[in-house]
Amino acid sequence: TDKYCVIGNPIAHSKSPDIHAAFAAATGQDIAYKRQLAPLDGFADTVRDLVAQGYRGANVTVPFKLEAAALATRLEERARLAGAVNTLRFDGGEIVGDNTDGPGLVADIVRNAGVPLAGKRILLLGAGGAARGVILPFLREKPEAIVIANRTRATADALVAHFADHVAYPGQIAACGFTDIRGSFDVVVNATSASLSADLPPVPASAFRQGALALDMMYGKKPTPFMAFAAKHGATVRDGLGMLVEQAAEAFAIWRGVRPDTASVLARMRAAS
Ligand code: ATR
Repeated sequence: TDKYCVIGNPIAHSKSPDIHAAFAAATGQDIAYKRQLAPLDGFADTVRDLVAQGYRGANVTVPFKLEAAALATRLEERARLAGAVNTLRFDGGEIVGDNTDGPGLVADIVRNAGVPLAGKRILLLGAGGAARGVILPFLREKPEAIVIANRTRATADALVAHFADHVAYPGQIAACGFTDIRGSFDVVVNATSASLSADLPPVPASAFRQGALALDMMYGKKPTPFMAFAAKHGATVRDGLGMLVEQAAEAFAIWRGVRPDTASVLARMRAAS
């Protein structure tokens, strides 16, 4: 049995062990996956301990994703550009850092929601770690434009500069404040942490094109204020549960070399939540 875990603080409510157990059962992989609480000042020690115990890898969640990027001895490009790591692979002496959050979001939008991103206009709300992680995976889908709107405009400007070498043409990524969001979009993603405090990022109703997809990276029992607002203005809404399952599938594929089917797991989690 190969051992894996998810490291965070807090960690008690993580759904990752259930998801990975379902993947393992469906693919016949002999793994064990548990929750691992790390002290706020003890992430590196926790990882070293897991390596010593023969663990093969770990997922990393709040608040350790940046520290995980710093700790990795090797980083995949998408993790380096995201500046954050959610998946560690322990390989001989190496700690390899990757980030499957962005690919997970793209898979949920393209495969589960059935919305191809090529040629589309994407509005990304927020410019923190969650937003940064999805930009390269979005660019790989060849959207017409990605507009990053943030409360603090300067942070959005910095993200645009950060990805300048990866755009297909100047202006494919642009930044603005919430008050100067112009035009309408096919896909609007809430990557702010506003939903945590039941806040609504001040996005104008005109931002949602007819038939737009509005996705909140958060999930919970009730639709977030952003989802309620988007639905009221005609958008199709989606929470972050699909992204959660897809990022897990991507991590599972990195570790085990097999990509599990996600539809049944997502359906079961939806029914349970
Ligand atoms: P995460 O890792 O979840 O992205 P983060 O890096 O702290 O967390 O970033 C939080 C993001 O949510 C930022 O874009 C933040 O905007 P600022 O850069 O202006 O701080 C945004 N945010 C947090 N609370 C918000 C709110 N109530 N309304 C709008 N944006 C909010």
